[in-house]
Amino acid sequence: MTETTPRLGARVMALIDDLARHTDEPGRLTRLYLSPAHRATAEAVLGLMREAGFAARIDAAGSVVGRIEGREPGLPALVLGSHIDSVVDAGRYDGPLGVAAGLVVAQEIRARGLPLPFALEVVAFGDEENVRFPTSLSTSKAWAGQYRMEWLEGRDAAGTTLREALAAFGGDPDGIPALARRPDEIAGYLEIHIEQGPALEAAAQPVGVVSGIVGLTRARCSVTGEANHAGTVPMGLRRDALAAAAEMALAVERLGEAVPGAVATVGSLTVVPGAVNVIPGRVDFSLDLRAPDDADRAGLFQAIQAECRAIAQRRLVGFSSETFMDNPAVALDPGFQAALDRAARRLGHAPLLLPSGATHDAVAMAALGASAMLFVRCRGGISHNPAESITLEDADAATRVLLGTVLDLAGLPH
Ligand code: GLV
Ligand code: MN
Ligand code: MN
Repeated sequence: MTETTPRLGARVMALIDDLARHTDEPGRLTRLYLSPAHRATAEAVLGLMREAGFAARIDAAGSVVGRIEGREPGLPALVLGSHIDSVVDAGRYDGPLGVAAGLVVAQEIRARGLPLPFALEVVAFGDEENVRFPTSLSTSKAWAGQYRMEWLEGRDAAGTTLREALAAFGGDPDGIPALARRPDEIAGYLEIHIEQGPALEAAAQPVGVVSGIVGLTRARCSVTGEANHAGTVPMGLRRDALAAAAEMALAVERLGEAVPGAVATVGSLTVVPGAVNVIPGRVDFSLDLRAPDDADRAGLFQAIQAECRAIAQRRLVGFSSETFMDNPAVALDPGFQAALDRAARRLGHAPLLLPSGATHDAVAMAALGASAMLFVRCRGGISHNPAESITLEDADAATRVLLGTVLDLAGLPH
């Protein structure tokens, strides 16, 4: 029987609103990996899972995972979820939407007592945004057996190592290798996420099936000049690290524009010592490059490096760069994409097939088994911004598509 009230969407929206209370910064939502607000959110999710009767725990890297068995114990798990870390001054839907929708779908299946030919696991990964430490999807890559133990020695802006932060969070750095799952334990991965772009709104569709996820390179770059007196050193005799970094940022923009489909961003910049009367002696800046084609991305990265070195040479400053993320583009699973598409069409939608320019934990999970994503329309295509917004009706539509997809994959009536 078709329900006429957005009951599942209402539950999802209430869960998201509840999780949004946990922030490290009063007045705005900031929940970086392993922060106190991340811990509080993880505990809230753990409580919800236990209340719903799932076998649940927070793993050694900080992911929350809850499991309900299928028609017999120990079957491979179909994993539903997303992440609960956020960017600085974030919106509330990027990540929590997929966790809340996974929870509601698993609860619904449990409440209906449906015998699935696989177990269901709901996961809340913790390090998808990768804004605190120089890592790359570390919590989902731990599951995929792709964790790089040197990540533990990386430092955040305050100088804290990931190892220290993980211990303070209550995690277990030494337990990370054991988080690796075998592909035969995983029946697949489905993630609902806001679109973070305008295509669904323009097409007047609540949901879309993701075709693939762009490749992504991130690096930390440093320019070293000479700090000196802003009043006494003539213009021609300066080694100004900020002026050089500014020229590099413009080169990043120009070179990125020249590669069709690619994007290139300098998103953060730290000026040292950062005083009104001191010529900047050092600048650290971030580089984020994305492209659907891995060869294009590699070529763009090399061109940017060459241009930055040339600028540094001309301006008599040092330049160095350390790459901490190099994720290839990922094609998602055609069988799961078709199941999402069928479920959406059965509910009367005409889902778009659209690429993702954002990265997602599905990149790591695709190494373990069939993975696919469903995008949900978000207002104005805005994300990584407190103005991020979706409607109750769209949350309901997406959750029902996920439910229908799980039932379809289980061979059960829907
Ligand atoms: C994650 O949101 C990303 O930066 O793609
Ligand atoms: Mn996200
Ligand atoms: Mn994000």
